[in-house]
Amino acid sequence: MSSRFCHSSSLHLLIGLFIFGSISAISAHENEDPTIKTMEAFSGYPIHESNSLVSDFVSSLSVETQTLQNQIDELSTFSDAPAPSVTRILYTEKDVLARRYIKNLMGLAGLSVREDTVGNIFGRWIGDEPELPPVATGSHIDAIPYSGKYDGVIGVLGAIEAINVLKRSGFKPKRSLEVIMFTSEEPTRFGISCLGSRLLAGIETLANNLKSTVDGQNISFLDAARSAGYANDQDDLSSVFLKKGSYSAFIELHIEQGPILEEEGISIGVVTAIAAPASITVDFEGNGGHAGAALMPIRNDAGLAAAELALAVEKHVLESGSIDTVGTVGILELHPGAINSIPSRSHLEIDTRDIDEKRRNTVIEKTHQSATTIANKRRVKLSEFKIINQDPPALSDKLIIEAAETASKELNLTYKKMISRAYHDSLFMARISPMGMIFIPCYKGYSHKPEEFSSKEDITNGVKVLALAVAKLSLN
Ligand code: GLV
Ligand code: MN
Ligand code: MN
Repeated sequence: MSSRFCHSSSLHLLIGLFIFGSISAISAHENEDPTIKTMEAFSGYPIHESNSLVSDFVSSLSVETQTLQNQIDELSTFSDAPAPSVTRILYTEKDVLARRYIKNLMGLAGLSVREDTVGNIFGRWIGDEPELPPVATGSHIDAIPYSGKYDGVIGVLGAIEAINVLKRSGFKPKRSLEVIMFTSEEPTRFGISCLGSRLLAGIETLANNLKSTVDGQNISFLDAARSAGYANDQDDLSSVFLKKGSYSAFIELHIEQGPILEEEGISIGVVTAIAAPASITVDFEGNGGHAGAALMPIRNDAGLAAAELALAVEKHVLESGSIDTVGTVGILELHPGAINSIPSRSHLEIDTRDIDEKRRNTVIEKTHQSATTIANKRRVKLSEFKIINQDPPALSDKLIIEAAETASKELNLTYKKMISRAYHDSLFMARISPMGMIFIPCYKGYSHKPEEFSSKEDITNGVKVLALAVAKLSLN
């Protein structure tokens, strides 16, 4: 297939919204100008009467679907929960094995691999103009307890396969293409989501806080990182920070995690914005005591305070009047956790999100007021009300949206623009790079549970759109 392409380094033309320079030219039809054919192939705009070469290039993109599915299945076996569940927590043995698996696949794809001090993994395909900021794509492979095998994984294995697709087609990128596997998109172990991408975005408070952060077993972040082979030389995590402009574009492939694409029979979601997430931890303390002997009037039950606050979160979310406001108490722990002991301590972790940041902030404020009121009423101590993160939403970049739309059209795939209600590493990559996302349908919108599923056909479509989009962006 590589004979279909040759390299021309002198062409600089603006077509539509894409500037093409150093373009790989199609030379299949010898009597025609190869540079014009390449412009057609990547712009979607016919330069000549015929755009048959667009479809020539597009139909040359072939995904090794079964190989990719086998990789998804194999990766899912690096899990601390029995199949079909997947549990893969940051820096555990299974996470380290899974990382090794990804680095190996990157190597097999001919990418040059590097890792930073927290274990973000980068695999680069060097372009013809390596001094230009690369185009990046990627996602995460950590999995929350008892979840499925597609969340994040599609955006890592799918990205490596997208590189393979382009290599097999004979494509040569102008800008380098980079696959990123982000460390700990999920907040499971250290309570903070998108840990790797937040650090890449240069969030200094996080880099400092992580020096004293411990997990539920009191293992420090740095010790955990060291046990996985990272953070060996230094406690300073600022080496992870990337400068704004380090990438010319970042685009993430992900399952939708909602039902819209499947319900509407649409192949591709082109993400225009990512909703604003926040998370809060709350602790109440009471006196505890004997479940039989301590009579009701004298009790100050920390467990009931937590239960009441959980209901208050639901109330405040519903009061927003918008279907876009959501709130979840995903963790509620009682101490000492005995049937015949009044809870003396309770711990809640609250997740709330909205596409409207102000409305989401109102839920946080009302939740804080409720926590104070409940503590007073129940004579318990509100020992902590801590906002772990309160992130603004992110908008996708126009050029990346257009690259994904054009790619979908050229592949004859139906698509719709949509919002991501889930957060992703893209939310933070948007701070240092123009950002976009491609969604594929997933069964009944299921995610964060073992029933999570995307069909081979949908995955193949997503990988092709990603391949074509990064190819376009790499020539920009
Ligand atoms: C990501 O895992 C999210 O919770 O949105
Ligand atoms: Mn997830
Ligand atoms: Mn994810």
